[in-house]
Amino acid sequence: MTRRVLSVASECVPLLKTGGLADVVGALPKALAEHGWHMRVLMPAYPGLATRLGKRPKALWQDADLFGGPAKVLGGRVEGLDMLLLDAPHLYDRPGGPYGGPGGDHADNDLRFAALSWAAAEIARNGLADGWTPDVLHAHDWQAGFAPAYLRYGPETAVKTVITVHNIAFQGNTGAERLEALRLPRAQFTAKGLEYYGHLSSLKAALVTADAITTVSPTYARELMRPEFGMGLQGVIGQRANDVSGILNGVDTEVWSPEADPAIHAYSAKKLGAKKTNRAALIDEFGLGYFEGPLAVLVSRLTTQKGIDLIPGALSEFTWRGGALIVLGSGDPVLEAAMRREAELNPTRIAVRIGYDEALSHRMFAGGDAVLVPSRFEPCGLTQMYGLRYGTVPVVAATGGLNDTVIDASPAALAAGVATGIKFAPTDALGLAQALRRLADLYADKRTWARIQRNGMKAPVDWAQSSGQYAALYASLAP
Ligand code: ADP
Ligand code: GLC
Repeated sequence: MTRRVLSVASECVPLLKTGGLADVVGALPKALAEHGWHMRVLMPAYPGLATRLGKRPKALWQDADLFGGPAKVLGGRVEGLDMLLLDAPHLYDRPGGPYGGPGGDHADNDLRFAALSWAAAEIARNGLADGWTPDVLHAHDWQAGFAPAYLRYGPETAVKTVITVHNIAFQGNTGAERLEALRLPRAQFTAKGLEYYGHLSSLKAALVTADAITTVSPTYARELMRPEFGMGLQGVIGQRANDVSGILNGVDTEVWSPEADPAIHAYSAKKLGAKKTNRAALIDEFGLGYFEGPLAVLVSRLTTQKGIDLIPGALSEFTWRGGALIVLGSGDPVLEAAMRREAELNPTRIAVRIGYDEALSHRMFAGGDAVLVPSRFEPCGLTQMYGLRYGTVPVVAATGGLNDTVIDASPAALAAGVATGIKFAPTDALGLAQALRRLADLYADKRTWARIQRNGMKAPVDWAQSSGQYAALYASLAP
């Protein structure tokens, strides 16, 4: 018998992506179908998205007043996904990105995503017009955080709830005076309930009301209970330790596969030589000079979470020894400027492209020798897994999912023939500089290097195992 899950999130590939959340939300339905779970994904109908559902998408749910205006949920298939788009023009029909525009975040984001959560809870409780009712509601991050709370505090229901924390740094905090506007019961505004340091937090609301809590790697699940990583919520999560699990993300191996990637010159673990064509093309594209050492690439949001500020202080020996770096990303203007400056100072060895460019990111993972992920914290991280797939050796901080997906090239791991990358700790400029030194040394030893590349290419980074873990979790909640 097919069971049903309503997945609720603020972004989903292929409709809209600002980060790894969208990749994961878009990959889960396919992965879970194999385990007999039918997943529909509910997200806002940001401008232009409804047309992706085809000519006449069906209205499967309506509300004359969803937090200040009429709303409906449109259903349809997009590239094999069963999408539900919450069409509420007063909340989502605005220029800019999903969370804000050039002037910053939208001032009413609490309301915009409470509305998404409210619609999700209503659908979970009462079903859609086509008769579909879920067994489980799976909320992702703070934007869907109030959905488990609406279900818990409303009339009794059999629907079970899961909250997945993709990044605890984003908590959906807002003022306590918003309780009524967000349709939350004042009686629950207590330390055990909705109250969070005198404020409201949609993520905390989910952490106290969902039946199960997951995060996107086993290491991050443990880290979240510690003050250095929990960002204030460590106590709340620690109290529910028995309900917390870490389930590693996978990557979509149909999209990320050097044998079949249309954006690159194809190669495989057996024919690694062809990777060189990609390397040469990438060096050419960025106008770097001749160099003997490894070509490192970095594709990332440019933020302090990602450790971008450590790079300027860690590069001098690496480039002096013949290494080079190409960066693709955007984010904090200060960090964008710092990256541009590195490229200006050393244009034959360092190149930077500020922006978001999917096709270029594929060329970089194919053409790079190594991919850098020096994050201060990283719930899971996807780019190190793309690196593994593409024989582009990951150089990562030993934290979160980076810790769980890379096997450090220690002498023991090299001797055992299992190393897949380089890990460093602590996450500071010296740690990164030393990791880059190890990278240059390993790269110079061609046989060892090829072995590490091939090990990585064999490492399981698809959804096979993790989708089974989600399916088992759902089944344990809704047997
Ligand atoms: P996060 O979600 O914290 O940003 P992840 O590693 O989980 O980190 O996911 C980031 C995703 O966004 C990856 O698919 C990565 O390739 C992609 N990405 C990030 N920045 C860029 C960029 N500038 N151009 C293209 N893709 C990018
Ligand atoms: C968040 C995290 C990242 C994770 C992604 C998908 O954006 O920062 O580490 O891979 O979510 O779960």
